[in-house]
Amino acid sequence: MGSPPISSRTTFDPVVHQDVRTKSQDEYFNFPAGSRFVAPSREMGLYLKKAFAHALKEYGVVSVELKFDDPKSHFMLELIQEMGFTPDTHSGTQGALWDITYKPEGISSLKSATGKAHSRSHGVGEFAWHTDGSYEAHPQRFFGLHVVHPDKQGGGIFRVLPAESLVSMLSPQAIDALLRTEFDIQVPEEFYKGQASNRGRLLDVDPKTGHFLLRFRADILPDPPTKDNPAANAAVAELKRLLNDPKTQGQRLPDDVFKENVMLLMDNARFLHMRTAIKDKKRLLRRIRFHGEPQTD
Ligand SMILES: [Fe+2]
Repeated sequence: MGSPPISSRTTFDPVVHQDVRTKSQDEYFNFPAGSRFVAPSREMGLYLKKAFAHALKEYGVVSVELKFDDPKSHFMLELIQEMGFTPDTHSGTQGALWDITYKPEGISSLKSATGKAHSRSHGVGEFAWHTDGSYEAHPQRFFGLHVVHPDKQGGGIFRVLPAESLVSMLSPQAIDALLRTEFDIQVPEEFYKGQASNRGRLLDVDPKTGHFLLRFRADILPDPPTKDNPAANAAVAELKRLLNDPKTQGQRLPDDVFKENVMLLMDNARFLHMRTAIKDKKRLLRRIRFHGEPQTD
């Protein structure tokens, strides 16, 4: 975006090295053994629920290729409930299933003066590193994505960045400040449920497993992040610098996973995720966010 075509560049043209990642340079996410599944039928998919729960608990990620038609993503909703999770509504006006697709008209909002608000998930722009629902009083620990129509023009690439990798790149001072500071996080209009902001830490440790847990979306933090905590402000600046660095690419989900009629379940706190700009305006993912603990016994 913004760069002239290669044929019209002279040797002296400044070239912005922003979107130069090619397929061969991408590092792909390696799904651990036992985290990829095929569901030949709805019944088999439901039967496998304990195996999905086990993988979600261990690795924080599960992919399931559905071999049956499910254009409305009913299976995903049914599975989540059968697994004992509680699906969350997306806002005061939207239900448990949310369409991630190009929707320039926006959605109804209880907060916006016009009654309409625009979600970033309904635009075509790049979505920077974030966790979902980071502005919620209690962010949903998990989310599911049903790939109904992937981007067939090479856009909408989905990348993940494990919390452990991110933390390993931060200074000990930043980790310490992030673990100890609560920030005021603004609620975007389209997700308004009656509260303008919520307080929460950006980094935490799961008391049961010791896994690092994240909660982050850069554009809804105040600027400066706190009024009276220079160490916390420096930590957020360090985190943002790291995430804005083009070298921080995370890992791309392989194309043979992120394809039509695959459902992904992810631990929303153990990974940041991002997507590149959309090229195919028919791209459609359906999302569900949910609370609870994977039931494996
Ligand atoms: Fe997201």
